Amino acid sequence: MNLTDEIHKRKTFAIISHPDAGKTTLTEKFLLFGGAIQTAGAVKSNKIKKAATSDFMEIEKQRGISVATSVMTFEYNGKLVNILDTPGHKDFAEDTYRTLTAVDSVILVIDCVKGVEEQTEKLMEVCRMRNSPVIVFINKVDRDGRDPFDLLDELEQKLNIKVRPMSWPINSGRDFKGVYKLYDKSINFFEANKTKISKDVIRIDDLNSPILDELIDKDAVRLRQDVELIDGVYGDFDVNDYLKGEVAPVFFGSALNNFGIKELLEKFLEIAPFPQARQSDERKVMPEESKFSGFVFKIHANLDPRHRDRIAFLRVCSGKFERNKFFHHVRLNKNMKFASPFTFMADSKALLEDAYAGDVVGLYDTGNFKIGDTLTEGEDMMYKGIPSFSPEIFKELINLDPMKSKQLEKGIEQLTDEGVAQLFRQDQGNRKFIGTVGELQFEVIQYRLEHEYNAKCRFDARAFFKACWMTGDKNAIDEFCRFRQKNIVKDKDENLVFLAETAWILNTAIQQNPKIEFHTTSEFKI
Ligand code: G4P
Repeated sequence: MNLTDEIHKRKTFAIISHPDAGKTTLTEKFLLFGGAIQTAGAVKSNKIKKAATSDFMEIEKQRGISVATSVMTFEYNGKLVNILDTPGHKDFAEDTYRTLTAVDSVILVIDCVKGVEEQTEKLMEVCRMRNSPVIVFINKVDRDGRDPFDLLDELEQKLNIKVRPMSWPINSGRDFKGVYKLYDKSINFFEANKTKISKDVIRIDDLNSPILDELIDKDAVRLRQDVELIDGVYGDFDVNDYLKGEVAPVFFGSALNNFGIKELLEKFLEIAPFPQARQSDERKVMPEESKFSGFVFKIHANLDPRHRDRIAFLRVCSGKFERNKFFHHVRLNKNMKFASPFTFMADSKALLEDAYAGDVVGLYDTGNFKIGDTLTEGEDMMYKGIPSFSPEIFKELINLDPMKSKQLEKGIEQLTDEGVAQLFRQDQGNRKFIGTVGELQFEVIQYRLEHEYNAKCRFDARAFFKACWMTGDKNAIDEFCRFRQKNIVKDKDENLVFLAETAWILNTAIQQNPKIEFHTTSEFKI
């Protein structure tokens, strides 16, 4: 198979959702279709939520499980599908944002009872920033959910994207009959069954035919009205609008009952983009280029504290990655080869000989990699688009054992390279602030500093509201920094960051400094 065929065969995507909407169940059903797992329940344990949110052993378990399920690869109808897993827990949201930089498209799962929830909005913001094509799957139609038109309105308003239904539910909850597939004019009848794939599909070329009344009785009238309204309001579906990230096709189904999943998967494979071109700081890189390039989007610490090695997840962007071939680590200006790179199966790892654009390669790392690092076949370029987002919680790191300062320094440096949290320094590094999305990370850091680096620390809460990266007039920034010295820190790449205490203070700073732009993500610079 030539390079282009290899690339066109691949679909690399992530399933995202608010916790409990059904991401795990859907992932599992996809894997069952792909034959990657044989039994339901194999992916199920991939979560820490509900009960044990601050139980450390649960965090450890999660870390272990999430390596195994970080990337799930399977083949279906001649296509090679890479599903990149994203953590369900909201405290790991930053991990999810980064994973979204490594995919070519996204399936968003919505609970039809709950509609668009808070975390969904945030995740979609990231997709919108990247113009990622999104397919929406409205799950749990076997429950008494919200009116489908209301759900679609809510999706458009809250997620700032146009939608286009591809299938339509016939009644709901206990009276749910099935879905009408708008794109091929057929009804897929529902049969609550967790293991069998429903096969009862009937074509209805003309919705006005009396056969429809026979089939779904009183619901026929409503379906005719709904479809007329859909055609009038949403217009035709244009796959290019989807590929540009402007319109999200919407499917209805039930992951638990394996209903509507095959249609979703097959339509996804038909329309979702294959690995796309990527922007580096030098130029746009095409996946078909013969020379290899890729970037690290995730780093995972080894579970065993006696072995400090880590796993770096590399997304291949162009050419062919090969085992034991020298590649150029751009940031370190160093050539490296990898003797045992691996690929991810649903529940195991396998040695990998070569990989193509869209694939994710696992690399054992002894501390050479940082998130965002680029490997090439010699070219000096760095991939763009691995943003840091403003953390939500800020604390100052206090060293509790002055004899172990070096260990603490090294530990915090490595943990933040892994992306566990963001590190901001002040006062030539003497003061360190840690920013995270959730409380859980502080527990993780404290535990790991102690157990892996033999360093003791404490965290003192600091009432900051947002971290803002600054661009604009250099003199204005210098002046502002002098004036707000106490609130100015540097991120890991030595960028100046303003830590604002409140929304009001931030707004005042914005108004009083028209020559400075304040950004709550670092994306602007890359
Ligand atoms: P998540 O990964 O997005 O957090 O969600 P997950 O798949 O774990 O699903 C959350 C809950 O919703 C699970 O129930 C799951 O069985 C249920 N669920 C998923 N899809 C459907 C569906 O189509 N219909 C209905 N009615 N329920 C669905 P749970 O009680 O939390 O877990 P479990 O005891 O079933 O494992």
